[in-house]
Order: sequence, then structure tokens, then C-alpha cells
Amino acid sequence: MNPRHLRLGVNIDHVATIRNARGGPHPDPVRAAHIAEEAGADGITAHLREDRRHITDRDIERLRREIKLPLNLEMAATDEMLAIALKHKPHAACLVPEKREERTTEGGLDVAGGHNHLQPYVAALNLAGIRVSMFIEPDPRQIDASRALGAPVVELHTGAYCHAALEAPGEARRQLARLVAAVEYTARIDLECHAGHGLTFDTVGPVAAIPGIAELNIGHFLIGEAVFGGLNSAVRRMRALMDKARAESSGARSA
Ligand code: PXP
Repeated sequence: MNPRHLRLGVNIDHVATIRNARGGPHPDPVRAAHIAEEAGADGITAHLREDRRHITDRDIERLRREIKLPLNLEMAATDEMLAIALKHKPHAACLVPEKREERTTEGGLDVAGGHNHLQPYVAALNLAGIRVSMFIEPDPRQIDASRALGAPVVELHTGAYCHAALEAPGEARRQLARLVAAVEYTARIDLECHAGHGLTFDTVGPVAAIPGIAELNIGHFLIGEAVFGGLNSAVRRMRALMDKARAESSGARSA
């Protein structure tokens, strides 16, 4: 793999949110996945929530059958979701915390505190050949705990950085430094590192510039932008911003 190439996983959950607002088939998240592929996405991400508020079981079945890109299934560590993952065998599964009352995945998974609960899920997914990632805060304790569980990948939650970037530049710099330190730590202990949550055209650059990150997963902003200029154009622009930031940071390091 080209170490400079930063993969883009497009999360299509909110195409399903809009579809479900009316109960019919439109807009179709599988069609969105095809457009994301044409526009340069490297993977498709979908979160099958326990309450099925956006993506449905049938969406997962169709994504698995109809798209060529690797599918990353975001899931809670429950027996129901594990059975679905083992049935459909997505390329990857990202274990996320899930609370019914939350609007989105509001924080990372407490892997350090949940070792005994999480262990059998990570083991079963590993055994099935599904690449497991743990969605965690950029915290060395959670990174160590993910490695101890045998997960080959961690996805760092970028929500605190993105939130601060809107109104508190000092705090945004602090959160970015926390991400940089966490990414460096994952490389030292040989974990693949992904990142995502809340990323926009304005916030993606500094995250994409962190050299150890292999993949970003981006959803809500891209689907929102698609309302104004189309999904193809939103994905292309995000892809271009990521590539530019990555090229500039690797150029600066080798200069
Ligand atoms: N990564 C994970 C693990 C997530 O749960 C989400 C949200 O579903 C994202 C990335 C994407 O976040 P956003 O939709 O804010 O871009």
C-alpha cells in the first residue's frame, strides 16, 4: 500500500435517515455508495443501529451484494450485531458504543473498562477474518486496551477536535496535538490507525496531514453538502483536500 495514500470511507447512514423520514425507497443508500465509489471513495461505511433509525438489515444485505468497495460495518458489541456481521462477512467491523437516546456516536468506546465484555466479540470477528477496529478517544489507555484485546485497528474519535474547531481555536490545537500523539503511539505499538467523526472541508486538512493515519471515515457533512452540490462533487472535494494535506505533509517531512 502506498503509505501516502489516505483512504476515504464514505459513511452513507444519513442517506438512509432522509429516506426513512418518508418510509419509501428514496433516496437509496446503495445508489449513494455507487456514486461515492465513482467519486473516489476507497470504502463504504454503514452503522446498523440497534433501533434501525437509518441503515436497515436489508441495506446491509444489498450493500454487501451490490457494491464492489470494501464495506465497513459499524456495530455495537451485542450478540444480535455479531450474528449479522458473521452472516454478511463485511470486509471490516468497527465496534462503537451505542446508546438509544444519543443523537450520534458521542464518544469513544471504553475498551479499558469493557475488556471482558468486548473480548468475545473481537475474538469472533477476528476468527471470521473480519478486520476489527475499536472506535476510541485518542487516549493511550484505550489504545493499549484495544491492542490487548487483539484488535488490529483503532479508529480515533475526532469529534472533540472538530467541535472545538468551530469556536475555540486554542482548544482545537490542544485536541489536534492529542490526536497527533495518539497516532504516533499506535504506530509504536503496531496498530493500524483510522480516524473520524464530525470532519468537514474545514477540519479535514490538519487530520489528513497526520502521517500515521491510514483511513478517514466521513459521513454527515458529506451527505449534508450533497444537498447543495451533489454527492459526487462533495466526495471529490473531500478526497482532493485529504490528498493535498497528505502530499504537503509528506513533502514537508522529506524536504
Ligand atoms: N466513524 C465512526 C466510528 C462513526 O460512528 C461515525 C458516525 O457514524 C463516523 C466515523 C462518521 O462521523 P460523521 O458522520 O460525523 O462524519
